[in-house]
Amino acid sequence: MKGKTVILGVCGGIAAYKAAALCSKLTQAGVKVHVVMTESATKLVGPVTFQALSHEAVRIDTFDELDPGVISHIDLADRADAVVVAPATANMLAKLAHGIADDMLSTILLATTAPILVAPAMNVHMYSNPATQANMELLRERGVQFIEPGIGQLACGYLGKGRMEEPEAIVEYVRAHFAAQEAPKPLAGKKVLITAGGTVERLDPVRYFTNDSSGKMGFALAEAARDKGAEVTVVAARVSEPLPRGVTVVRAESALQMEEAVLSRFAEMDLVVKAAAVADYRPVEAAPQKIKKTGETLQVTLVKNPDILEELGKRKEKQFLIGFAAETEQVETYAMDKLHRKNCDLLVANDVSRSDAGFGTETNVVTIFDKNGPALSLPLLSKRETAERILALALERMMGGGQA
Ligand code: CTP
Repeated sequence: MKGKTVILGVCGGIAAYKAAALCSKLTQAGVKVHVVMTESATKLVGPVTFQALSHEAVRIDTFDELDPGVISHIDLADRADAVVVAPATANMLAKLAHGIADDMLSTILLATTAPILVAPAMNVHMYSNPATQANMELLRERGVQFIEPGIGQLACGYLGKGRMEEPEAIVEYVRAHFAAQEAPKPLAGKKVLITAGGTVERLDPVRYFTNDSSGKMGFALAEAARDKGAEVTVVAARVSEPLPRGVTVVRAESALQMEEAVLSRFAEMDLVVKAAAVADYRPVEAAPQKIKKTGETLQVTLVKNPDILEELGKRKEKQFLIGFAAETEQVETYAMDKLHRKNCDLLVANDVSRSDAGFGTETNVVTIFDKNGPALSLPLLSKRETAERILALALERMMGGGQA
């Protein structure tokens, strides 16, 4: 994002206070931020706050021309690499949808040809009002990108959808937007399926067996594939990370549901990565009612789950298949056994006994195996960078190069 120019439009919603943190984080990331506030926004946060955080003059009034050499709203609109409106009120969305330009921000939004990203924030009923929904639909069709509000406690006292996404998440969205714009698209026209998270095997309606997988590695792969131009489907089990954007997400809680979700889509895929931690066993049956406490011990009988990856290996035709293996010992031996047994093209093994690799960590240390043995050992990297390297190797192999 360094060196990019972003117009940060701040509207008059309570979440305007969060825009100060957003302004600060964008500036810290090397972005030149020009803040444009609506009159209403200035009633909630002082312009001086944004001026101090962005080191730039804050624009409010269309006719308050700071530089006689240019027409300020056109000059700003032209210079922007992106316009981010956060918070975006229902009123501003309506104006943007209908081409109304009656203040500095709405005029810039009409004048700019830069991508527009909006983070709505409003009362749950204003959000779900058909007028707002229709305006959002229209804007989506025209290419405006929405950073969806979350569900939570709203300032008006309601609990519901309408809370502006957190500044950190908006920064990540903006970062991903620029990364996606600039990345080469070697996976354009390819369909990629990625499984992520840990499966949930129900014991009764309120209890289940699961594992520590957070979904981070799978989501990093999905985002990396998306930014390389692929049409990505993520089959997500239990995850603790926000779902990736710009991809199709299919929820599948248990191994059996994941099997169905994956097998039914497999034929049309070009690349499949099984990053999910699938439970090897499930309770023989999930009790329909909550199991009551009775004896001193409770015996649960588990039955083996189908091995989804192994099944994919059997059905494989044109698909390039990547498996994962989380190991705590004899990594190479077990990884090679899995690669052959499940007929994978590549197998990514991580030593989950390390504290900086595996489940829930930000980083990973992996070795990628092919049918001849170790093909690539990666150092300690972020999961996103690890994902980039895995896909780069897969692409090389899919294009028919680089194999010993
Ligand atoms: N996998 C799968 N279906 C299962 C179990 C595993 O698709 N029922 C996939 C995982 O998504 C992963 C790979 O197989 O890509 C290896 O998973 P892992 O749990 O390490 O392998 P297992 O075959 O279960 O071996 P073990 O538990 O004995 O180490």
